[in-house]
Amino acid sequence: MSESNRELIFEIFRYNPEDPQSQPRMQTYRLDEEPYMTLYRALNRIREKLDPGLQFDFACRSAVCGSCGMMVNGRPTLACKTLTSDLDHTIRLHPLPAFKLIGDLSVDTGTWFREMAERVQGWIHERQPFDPQAIEERMDNQLADAIYESDRCIECGCCVASCGVANTREEFLAPAGLNRIARFMMDPRDRRDDDDWFDVVASTEGVFGCVGLMACHDVCPKELPLLEVYAYLRRRALGSAFVRRGESPGAAPGKSG
Ligand code: SF4
Ligand code: FES
Repeated sequence: MSESNRELIFEIFRYNPEDPQSQPRMQTYRLDEEPYMTLYRALNRIREKLDPGLQFDFACRSAVCGSCGMMVNGRPTLACKTLTSDLDHTIRLHPLPAFKLIGDLSVDTGTWFREMAERVQGWIHERQPFDPQAIEERMDNQLADAIYESDRCIECGCCVASCGVANTREEFLAPAGLNRIARFMMDPRDRRDDDDWFDVVASTEGVFGCVGLMACHDVCPKELPLLEVYAYLRRRALGSAFVRRGESPGAAPGKSG
């Protein structure tokens, strides 16, 4: 951990799309580094001391809410999880691409994730009507773990921002959308089968739209196993013909097969 008296130089993207006078530009701020300083704290210092108009988002300050995703020196990450001591003294910040810009470093990830959830119908489609008297059904522990892994997504948008395809083709469901699909494909309580999923998964809006650069896997701040999720979806898509013949569709992410 650095205890140095570094002066940090922030070069921050500024633009207000609501203001016709506003022009996209980079603005420079200088700030004394503090021990254990995160980017979240540095941005708050800049807003308190230097520029109350600077826009950026945060809520939890502990990598849980997914609000503070931004491009840090060209890489999408969470501001609240990034220590300035891990960065060079000049720090360039941009908003996440692929999302609607609200202003400066603030983007609208909420609309993107809501539309994605509606597209994939990201909720359990129950096999039978809810019965409050029913005895709880046990789930295989490994399968429950795999579903839990996918559910750890905090919807920060870093994987979407890192994805060349998601940045150029709006219809691509992007890593976060495909992760959501895998979560419900794995869930034995969901009645949708491979045939129901086939059109969306086995298409260029689905897993076959991915060109395999896998930056999403590298940047996910929650370290979700996105490589395994993609492999699982490919197996399920390619195996759907076998499923119709009653053969195995493939194991959940994290399992062999
Ligand atoms: Fe963020 Fe990871 Fe979820 Fe993508 S998969 S939105 S990078 S937590
Ligand atoms: Fe919640 Fe960073 S402030 S994830």
